[in-house]
Amino acid sequence: MIKIFEDAGQLNRFAAEKFVEIADEAIENRGSFTFALAGGSTPKSLYQLLGSDEFKNKVDWSKVFFFFGDERNVTPSDAESNFRMANENLFQPLKISETHICRWRTELKDAEMIAFAYDVSVGNFFCTDPKFNLVLLGMGDDGHTASLFPFTKALAETERIAVANQVEKLGTTRLTLTFPVINNARNVIFLVKGADKAETLRAVLQGEFQPENYPAQNVKPIDGNLYWLVDREAAGLLK
Ligand code: 6PG
Repeated sequence: MIKIFEDAGQLNRFAAEKFVEIADEAIENRGSFTFALAGGSTPKSLYQLLGSDEFKNKVDWSKVFFFFGDERNVTPSDAESNFRMANENLFQPLKISETHICRWRTELKDAEMIAFAYDVSVGNFFCTDPKFNLVLLGMGDDGHTASLFPFTKALAETERIAVANQVEKLGTTRLTLTFPVINNARNVIFLVKGADKAETLRAVLQGEFQPENYPAQNVKPIDGNLYWLVDREAAGLLK
């Protein structure tokens, strides 16, 4: 499902209401809600809205378990850290216990070790194949999602839950969940905003299928719901 919103405010409000709907259903039916956060800048205002007086009482946060779709190989206090952004804008406002947050342990420094540790943590939490109630994703203007970048090794990973992924063009190694985990989710929501994403969004949603070049095209939940929530600027080139 693709929904186009006039502006970021309306997009965030719909996303927050969808979040509450999914969370309440999961908690009602399964006693808990597992949520893999997106990084980058787009979701920051959504996290602020979820932690605001308007939404913070709509979810039983004591039943929510937080994970990260990807992370940069930096310390948790680094300005680039996805954990830091979520901690400042969601976890601290909601006073989330750290026992409910499963972050990539980047203090281990070695990317392979960090990924192995996360693979084990997520695997142990779910016992079977990880099935998140919700995976929130962004999309880069190159068509990447999480830290699954074009023409990188992690795109082909079919066994591991979490891997280290060398991204030549960034000159760094990123940390990311893999497509099997993302596509096993019950719900996947993409948040895409801004005119700079318009050409890539058109290519991803309406262009030919070339997932090496546009990894976001490989997000196809096996039996889950897929929502593309985009603002009018990002949707500017969609037919
Ligand atoms: C990250 C994200 C990444 C992000 C896209 C879009 O760690 O950067 O997980 O996949 O969602 O790069 O980033 P913006 O939201 O900043 O445009």
